[in-house]
Amino acid sequence: MSEALVAPSLLSGDFARLGEEALRCERAGADWLHLDVMDGHFVPNITFGAPMVAALRRLTKLFFDVHLMVERPERGLADCLRAGADMLTLHIEAIDGDDLSRALRAIRAADCGAALSVRPGTAAERVFPWLEHIDMVLVMTVEPGAGGQTFMPDMLPKIKALREEITRKGLSTKIQVDGGINESTIGAAAEAGASIFVAGSALFGAGDMARAIKGLREAMLNYEC
Ligand code: DX5
Ligand code: ZN
Repeated sequence: MSEALVAPSLLSGDFARLGEEALRCERAGADWLHLDVMDGHFVPNITFGAPMVAALRRLTKLFFDVHLMVERPERGLADCLRAGADMLTLHIEAIDGDDLSRALRAIRAADCGAALSVRPGTAAERVFPWLEHIDMVLVMTVEPGAGGQTFMPDMLPKIKALREEITRKGLSTKIQVDGGINESTIGAAAEAGASIFVAGSALFGAGDMARAIKGLREAMLNYEC
């Protein structure tokens, strides 16, 4: 198994104090900081955009994992790259074809990681043709749009299918999972082939985030199916 990374999702933080919340994640030993950009179209909610990412960038050196849940993500791409994203995830349902090729090239040209995400209803095969051109696939294990939902175990075969295709092609593309990750669900996701774990409510809901991050890692290592 490749090294496991834990990425707290700021969506579950206190929106009146997002800077402090980002620093709290850093102090707790987060590997990455997951930033959910929502536009009110691709998903019903609206969160924040590139200006917030840029403001947080001035506070912390944490790896910024920016999850764009927006229609036409190509339009805001340059701003997100300038704002300091380290990994930029686009949804395959929001962009395809030449626009997607161009977007992935632009992301990588800016020395940022490029990733594609699939909603629960989207088949793994949709991203197969793009695997050579991306650094990570994000498998949504809840319907995107809100924190605090229940992990969907029927996404596990999708993670496995991606893992097998990545191995078959001899690639090093990582698999990330996002949605309902906690001590009870992380093991199965890891076993299926994920190595990067986004967690919102499980980490921000815990009094001691450092301990909660350790708890996730231990639950993953001790998992028996
Ligand atoms: C949901 C977001 C997630 C969310 C996860 O659309 O993409 O990043 O914050 O929250 P939990 O871990 O509470 O499911
Ligand atoms: Zn997310």
